Amino acid sequence: MRYLQIETDRLILRPLEISDAEHIFNTWTSDPRVTKYMTYTTHKSVDNTKQWLESVTANADSENVLDTGFQLKETGKLIGSGGATYNSEHDRWDLGYNFAYDYWHKGYATEAVRAVVGILRAKGIRRFMAEHAVKNIYSGKVMEKIGMKFDRKGTYSCYDGRVFNANFYIMDLD
Ligand SMILES: CC(C)(COP(=O)(O)OP(=O)(O)OC[C@H]1O[C@@H](n2cnc3c(N)ncnc32)[C@H](O)[C@@H]1OP(=O)(O)O)[C@@H](O)C(=O)NCCC(=O)NCCS
Repeated sequence: MRYLQIETDRLILRPLEISDAEHIFNTWTSDPRVTKYMTYTTHKSVDNTKQWLESVTANADSENVLDTGFQLKETGKLIGSGGATYNSEHDRWDLGYNFAYDYWHKGYATEAVRAVVGILRAKGIRRFMAEHAVKNIYSGKVMEKIGMKFDRKGTYSCYDGRVFNANFYIMDLD
C-alpha cells in the first residue's frame, strides 16, 4: 500500500528500500533476541534480508498490505519496521512490528504502531487485530497502550514451524 511519509514526535515512517538491507540485517533481522517471537526465521545473511525487502517492494502497490520502516529522526537511522496485513477470515487488519534491541523500552513501539493505525484510519480502515506470544509481554503492553482490547487466546505459527500460544487483541475505531 502506498502512503504519504509521516512523522511522529521522534520517528519518520517511510517506505523500506532494498538498499536498507545491510543496515537492517546488522541491526535487527539477524538478532535472535528480536526474531524470537516473529513469524520469520532469524536471517543468516544479508541476502535473506534483501529477499524479504524485494517482496516488500513488490507488494508496495497491494491494497492488502502496509509495510513501513521506522526511522529515528535524531540519527536518520532505521530502528525497526512494521505494518499491517488484511486478514480476510476476520475482516481485520493484523498489526505487526519489530525493533532493534537497543531501542526497546523507550516507547518507540507504541509511538510507531499508533502512527501505523493512523495511516490506515486515514484510508477508512477501522477494524484491527494483533497477536502476541503469551511470553512476549512487552508486545502485549504495546497493544494495550494503543487502545486494543483482549479478545481471546489462541496460537500462531511461524514459517519454520514454531507455534506459540498467543493472546489476540482487537480494536474497532469509530
Ligand atoms: C515487542 C516490542 C516491539 C516492544 O517494544 P518496546 O520498546 O518495549 O515498546 P514500548 O517502549 O513502546 O513499551 C510499551 C510498554 O511496555 C512496557 N515496558 C516496556 N519496557 C518495560 C520494562 N523494562 N519493564 C516493564 N515494562 C516495560 C511499558 O508499559 C511500556 O509503556 P511505557 O511507555 O509506559 O513505558 C519490542 O520488544 C520488539 O521489537 N520485540 C521483538 C519483536 C517482536 O516480538 N515483535 C512483536 C511480535 S507480536
